[in-house]
Amino acid sequence: MGNPAGEDLEEKTVVFGITGGIAAYKAPMIVRGLKRLSLDVHVVTTDSAGYFVTPLVLQTLSGRPVLTEMFSEVPGSSYEIDHIALADQADLFLVAPATADFLAKLAHGIADDLLSCSILATKAPVLVCPSMNVNMLSNPATRDNIETLKRRGFHVLEPASGELACGWEGAGRLPEPDRIVSEVKMLLSRHDLSGINILITSGPTCEDIDPVRYITNRSTGKMGGAIVEAACLRGARVTVISGPVGIDYAPWATLIDARSAGEMLDAVRENLAGCDVLIMAAAVADYTPQMYSQNKIKKGEKMTHLELDSTPDILSTIRPLKESRIFVGFAAETDNLKTYAQDKMIRKGLDMIVANRVGEKGSGFASETNSGVVLSQEGVLYDFEHMAKETLAHKILDLVKDKL
Ligand code: PMT
Repeated sequence: MGNPAGEDLEEKTVVFGITGGIAAYKAPMIVRGLKRLSLDVHVVTTDSAGYFVTPLVLQTLSGRPVLTEMFSEVPGSSYEIDHIALADQADLFLVAPATADFLAKLAHGIADDLLSCSILATKAPVLVCPSMNVNMLSNPATRDNIETLKRRGFHVLEPASGELACGWEGAGRLPEPDRIVSEVKMLLSRHDLSGINILITSGPTCEDIDPVRYITNRSTGKMGGAIVEAACLRGARVTVISGPVGIDYAPWATLIDARSAGEMLDAVRENLAGCDVLIMAAAVADYTPQMYSQNKIKKGEKMTHLELDSTPDILSTIRPLKESRIFVGFAAETDNLKTYAQDKMIRKGLDMIVANRVGEKGSGFASETNSGVVLSQEGVLYDFEHMAKETLAHKILDLVKDKL
């Protein structure tokens, strides 16, 4: 599988160091996740890691022998000095879990085993994922060591909070394998949008009738979520304004919740000043009930019709604030895709519009793929047919980048 950022991760090597903490039981899942990105994974364990996870499982999943000994004779590597070979080969070092002891070693330049020695010798970025008892983590010695590592350019994924294996509650849990694998993917991606601030709207809006009922649409946030993730992976600073959805946005984005069209408009207005690019992927409801009933409307009251008002058109309202920003809209259409989308682009003063077909399988709402056409003021930029939303997200960002 290629890296959606357009750069192939297949060529990249991750040296995955596992140290001796109980959270090492998650290591095989991390190896699996890294292999799914087609990364070449070399596992190095400390002596004590062997108490928590066996070399056999790591070797089977990584497809390579597991290295532990500093001075072993590895078959096939005859004249190479292991720690230097690893240090030079790595595009990234990952240490998960990183114990308090191992962090102390790294912070003080101690190199008394294969893993610490290789990290001391590498020029590659290093991501450490501390995991330990909550009191060990908050101990000033550990905090100082973590701060020292951050100052020196190490990437630190802070532990999650919750129930710890030692019986305590608090910070110290190793983040879930998917979270660690995402961080690796982000660090290895091409950061061609760094320094760019992107504001993205996503998901549906909900227009409340009473505390029980509301008007909404079929948007799941998948398309907006894919753009959020792609932009984050490529180094942009991302703020996402989202209606109620059941998906998790990329952890690096700032999330602002907006329930109704009115709330979404307010949030867009408040966050526009700092952005270079606005991408409106949200399916904003076009109508809202004239009246909101504080109490549940009873079945017996026979609500036979609903008076509706138009919602504010967000893009048209903020058009006077556009200045040199790039505005990208979406158009959800069942027919006359190009004509309707072009009309919307001109009416709403957009630089670009992504017109997608809705009402058919594999495109538009809730699907994993999308079909349609990207238009700019100059004409058709790109046709896409049943394209994965992740891939389309990167394509949209490529087109935005051309206009920056
Ligand atoms: O979330 P998914 O399930 O993945 O589905 C993705 C999607 C189909 C919702 C998405 O790809 C999409 O098409 N989003 C825009 C849907 C929409 O509202 O289209 P529209 O043609 O009604 O609106 C045109 C543009 O004006 C959109 O950028 C919209 O955000 C914006 N708009 C609409 C209404 C409104 N009151 N204010 C607006 O600014």
